[in-house]
Amino acid sequence: MAKVLILFAHPRYENSLVQQHLSTVAQKVSGVTFHDLYEFYPDFDVQIKYEQDLLIGHDIIILQHPFYWYSCPPLLKQWIDLVLEHGWAYGRAGKALAGKIMMNAVSTGGSQAAYQPDGFNRFTIGQFLAPFDQTARLCNMAYYPPFVVHGTHRAATRDIENAGESYRLLLEGIVAGKFSDEAIRNVTYLNELIN
Ligand SMILES: Cc1cc2nc3c(=O)[nH]c(=O)nc-3n(C[C@H](O)[C@H](O)[C@H](O)COP(=O)(O)O)c2cc1C
Repeated sequence: MAKVLILFAHPRYENSLVQQHLSTVAQKVSGVTFHDLYEFYPDFDVQIKYEQDLLIGHDIIILQHPFYWYSCPPLLKQWIDLVLEHGWAYGRAGKALAGKIMMNAVSTGGSQAAYQPDGFNRFTIGQFLAPFDQTARLCNMAYYPPFVVHGTHRAATRDIENAGESYRLLLEGIVAGKFSDEAIRNVTYLNELIN
C-alpha cells in the first residue's frame, strides 16, 4: 500500500466548487493524508521541519490546486521554496526524497481544447507544469502526469460529481498500486487510467 500525501492549496476555499468537491472525496480515501495548506498556514508561516517530516512519511506527493495564472496559488510556491531545502531535498547530500513520486491534481477554467498548441492557451498542461516536473527530478523523485479537471467555468453539478468519482478511483488505485509504471508513462492525464 502506497502512502499518499495531498498538499492542497486553494486561497478561496469558501468560493470553490470543484476543488471543494475533490477535497471532500479525497479525505474519505483510506491511505490518503489530506493537508490543507491555507487552513494550516493562513499567515504563510510554513513550518519547514513539520513539512519535511510529513514528506518523509509518505511515498506519493500530490499537489492539488486550482490552476492560477498557469501555475499554482502562492502558498504552494512558498511551501516549495521553503520546504525543499538544499542539502535535504536536492544537492549532493540532499537525498531525503529519493524514490518518491510527485504529481499535480489541478482544475482549470479553460477547456482541454484550449490547452493545445493551436488552442487559446498555446501550450499543453504538461508544458505549463514543466517547473514541477523538473523540481521533482531535481529532488530525485519521479513525476507522474497530472490529474486534470478542465472547463470549470462551465461545469454542471454532474460534471463535478463525475470528476470527483474519477479522482476517488484514481486515488484508490494509486494507494493500492494498481497502475503499472508503463501504463502511467503512456497517458497524458492520469484521468485516462480510469476510463
Ligand atoms: C486568480 C485566478 C487565476 C486563474 N488562472 C487560470 C489559468 O491560468 N488558467 C485557467 O484555465 N483557469 C484559471 N483560473 C480559473 C480557475 O482555475 C478555476 O476557477 C478553478 O480551477 C475552479 O476551481 P474551484 O471551483 O475549486 O475554485 C483562474 C482563476 C483565478 C481566480
